[in-house]
Amino acid sequence: MAPLIPGAPPALVAATERLRGQPASWLVTGSAGFIGSHLVEKLLRLGQTVVGLDNFATGHQRNLDEVRDLVGPEQWRRHRFIEADLCDPAVCREACRGVDFVLHQAALGSVPRSLANPLATNAANVDAFLNLLVAARDAGVRRFVYAASSSTYGDHQELPKVEERIGRPLSPYAVSKLVNELYAEVFARCYGFASIGLRYFNVFGARQDPEGAYAAVIPRWARAMLLGEAVSINGDGETSRDFCFVDNAVQANLLAATTANPEAVNQVYNVAVDDRTSLNQLFEILRDALAGVRPGLRDLRPVYRDFRPGDVRHSQADIGKARRLLGYLPTHRLAEGIRAAMPWYLARFAVTEGVC
Ligand SMILES: NC(=O)c1ccc[n+]([C@@H]2O[C@H](COP(=O)([O-])OP(=O)(O)OC[C@H]3O[C@@H](n4cnc5c(N)ncnc54)[C@H](O)[C@@H]3O)[C@@H](O)[C@H]2O)c1
Repeated sequence: MAPLIPGAPPALVAATERLRGQPASWLVTGSAGFIGSHLVEKLLRLGQTVVGLDNFATGHQRNLDEVRDLVGPEQWRRHRFIEADLCDPAVCREACRGVDFVLHQAALGSVPRSLANPLATNAANVDAFLNLLVAARDAGVRRFVYAASSSTYGDHQELPKVEERIGRPLSPYAVSKLVNELYAEVFARCYGFASIGLRYFNVFGARQDPEGAYAAVIPRWARAMLLGEAVSINGDGETSRDFCFVDNAVQANLLAATTANPEAVNQVYNVAVDDRTSLNQLFEILRDALAGVRPGLRDLRPVYRDFRPGDVRHSQADIGKARRLLGYLPTHRLAEGIRAAMPWYLARFAVTEGVC
């Protein structure tokens, strides 16, 4: 397991100092979503100019409102929002105009969603990606950083996962994210266009949507526990993941966009912690954290149901490449991330008592 360092990693300190000294113009797509809204928040706090774009397919106005309230009116003035669909090439051209860096987060997430509707996933994740890539190239964007995914490892059994060795995709979602990487690579080769793909592994934190059939496990369970609903585990609970707190993902984006290391560009990187937690362990960690405000949760037991099709069994990232080439060092493991996100879960479900 990678050691955590106290405070901000040196590469991040250097990157943020550079950005404060020389503010840039950024496009964040999927900005009303979970990770995108954190990127907008961080960039505005660093004095950057930000264009956010979203079509509210899965994102929410309340995420933008929350960021506005967190950064305050002065920083918010450097933010412009475009409500539009990236499936329209004209939208992409307009959004990329005058932009230095693109952080492309917009996509339809979720393996089960892609199994239920592969056409919608392909349109949002592949067609829109290519539209934006072309527009960014034509607009002379300095660097295009995009959300790739650990799902690209597919059926490859090796642990921890190393960027160069992937298996066969297990879902339409995984195909879409692999295609993103292929297009980015070809744009580098054919047009000399600079991009970096970040293979996120189960990112979690405030503003991750807890509602709906396709909600991610941590907010879904936090919601169920706080509302007194049953918590179900798909399979035997020994399925494991490398859960990555959103601050680590934000860090990776800033480093990827600003790195001056030529070897670091036109690469893909794992973004996680290099740790592995089973769903059974996650259940206990979350239950114990929430039992501070809901003592009745101490005895809660999960309900087990069938394995979910398309899910990989185990996942853990080797983060050596990101550390070596970008200077990436995660600041939060699962427990620290849960602790940091806890006030948001409590506020979201109107639990007002203090947490232990
Ligand atoms: N959260 C994770 O654990 C995780 C893991 C691996 C990869 N990713 C990738 O990271 C990115 C961000 O994920 P997230 O968890 O913040 O998801 P999210 O659903 O909260 O955010 C995605 C945003 O993109 C927007 N969007 C979708 N299609 C669009 C379109 N055609 N035009 C404009 N906007 C569109 C949605 O409305 C939403 O606000 C996605 O690309 C996702 O595939 C996330």
